[in-house]
Amino acid sequence: LGIAAQTECRAELARAMLNRWSSERRAELARAIPSRDRGRRSQSEASNRRSQLGFNYLNITIMLNKKVEEAINAQINAEMWSAYLYLSMSAWCHANGNPGFGKWFEVQFQEEQDHAKILFNYVISRAGKVELKAIDEVPTQWNKLLDVLENTLAHEQKVTSLINNLYAIAEEEKDYATASMLKWFIDEQVEEEETAQGIIDNLKMIKDNGYGLYMLDKELGARTYSQASPLAGK
Ligand code: FEO
Repeated sequence: LGIAAQTECRAELARAMLNRWSSERRAELARAIPSRDRGRRSQSEASNRRSQLGFNYLNITIMLNKKVEEAINAQINAEMWSAYLYLSMSAWCHANGNPGFGKWFEVQFQEEQDHAKILFNYVISRAGKVELKAIDEVPTQWNKLLDVLENTLAHEQKVTSLINNLYAIAEEEKDYATASMLKWFIDEQVEEEETAQGIIDNLKMIKDNGYGLYMLDKELGARTYSQASPLAGK
């Protein structure tokens, strides 16, 4: 064979190998990813298979890896625990003559459930597996209103560090879709901490002034719930 013919022959061989590799990978992916038409495959079987594969196909990340999936599931649990904590704080406020604070914490309770639901929806949208664990017991007693709010701020600071850790895991795993989704939570935490700090500042300013406390309770009681934006239409 001449040089030109040999070159063409090598190119043909390379094309054939590439086609074969690509169709094998496509078949493997088709088996691993349940579609609505192929919904008979059990979710856990597909999830296990996806974890084993865990590779990028033609440079496109298509699935949650196990480490990210576990971290998001842990965060779902943390958000549900937060909801439970705020419901407990609401009960304490109602029982201790601060119904406006009680109402404010009821809205916190609803918002935390939204946070859990955003993560829940996200895991599903990435064909991952949601695993809901038990929600631990929460505190039920505080000495005074200021303690409740200081506990709230400390808790939100803890949640901020959890979200930051989750973001770091997503970046380590080169899971940019998860990192992008978490940006909403990062911004939300700034607001959560600022709001709790603002109420603490007001309480410290009011001290034992009954009228001041009455007015603050009234103001907080006017808070209404609005659904978190990532849940719109879902
Ligand atoms: Fe979901 Fe208040 O953090």
